[in-house]
Amino acid sequence: MTVLVLGGAGYIGSHAVDRLLDNGYDVAVVDNLVTGHKEAVRKEARLHIGDVRDKAFLRKVFTEENVEGVVHFAAFSVVPESMKDPLKYFDNNTGGMITLLEVMHEFNVANIVFSSTAATYGEPKQIPIKETDPQIPTNPYGESKLAMEKIMHWSDVAYGIKFVALRYFNVAGAKPDGSIGEDHNPETHLIPIILQVAAGKRDKLQIFGSDYPTKDGTNVRDYVHVVDLADAHILALKYLADGNDSNAFNLGSATGFSNLEILEAARRATGKEIPAVMAPRRPGDPSTLIAASDKARDILGWKPQYDDVEKIIASAWNWHEKHPNGYKG
Ligand code: UFG
Repeated sequence: MTVLVLGGAGYIGSHAVDRLLDNGYDVAVVDNLVTGHKEAVRKEARLHIGDVRDKAFLRKVFTEENVEGVVHFAAFSVVPESMKDPLKYFDNNTGGMITLLEVMHEFNVANIVFSSTAATYGEPKQIPIKETDPQIPTNPYGESKLAMEKIMHWSDVAYGIKFVALRYFNVAGAKPDGSIGEDHNPETHLIPIILQVAAGKRDKLQIFGSDYPTKDGTNVRDYVHVVDLADAHILALKYLADGNDSNAFNLGSATGFSNLEILEAARRATGKEIPAVMAPRRPGDPSTLIAASDKARDILGWKPQYDDVEKIIASAWNWHEKHPNGYKG
């Protein structure tokens, strides 16, 4: 079966391509390489360089490839950037989804697995967050992804395009052999920033906010290993291939760690001191995000292998040590 992976040169997408190939799928990748890296895509996958908003380009890809299923990662995903430049997010993320669905409809491709996010829930009313809870984003990134979920819903009603929306919580870690990993420029995510401090590339970590209503005043997040996350996409493809209805699933560990706890775990995983200071809150950050993830376990049969945040950080540190300058060396 040929799977088209949009955004397959990005952090999560490249791990999904790797796992799809390992599981015997034929894989084609679309990526504009704005945030993705050519080097992250395994040679066995066919890379088409171009933009998801470019309809002529997408039509060419769908003509050349016998696409049977689509996995869509191609999106901007930096919450603070979305607060400063919301239209960039609605244009690329939400606009890109419309073009993709139009071309899927034209070529009679009826299955899509989609990267959604915990950010679609906003500030939760209850913890852990269930899939049926209200979705009221607190930032344009989450809003752009929620709009994409709704567009998929109505495309199912009208054209019968079935979807699985996978709502990721905080993704971290790298392939255990350290051959692919997280390489963003600029980096904004907590764990890679902590590891840059550990590696001596930054002076200190700034912890954004110490007065949240949490156990130690810092934000609480639910971390999931990127390889476990990638495997959930394969289960979602199978779920759709089996003829099931469209659905949405949280992907998290059901356990929350505060930013200070992550810092301590990183100190243990790296053996480094990692200087840190408290800093003002970052706009748009919800206080606590923890997933109820039993739905993915029950219906998709998802069994995450990494249940220890220190091991997740250790796999990211392995990538950092092997690639101190990311894919550039
Ligand atoms: N943080 C710091 N200092 C830093 C960087 C981050 O204190 O230098 C804090 C943030 O304020 C937040 C936590 O670390 O409290 C995690 O921040 P990240 O930027 O690593 O991740 P987010 O929780 O903001 O967002 C991530 C993804 C989103 C996704 C979201 C869902 O980037 O795409 O998880 O939980 F929507």
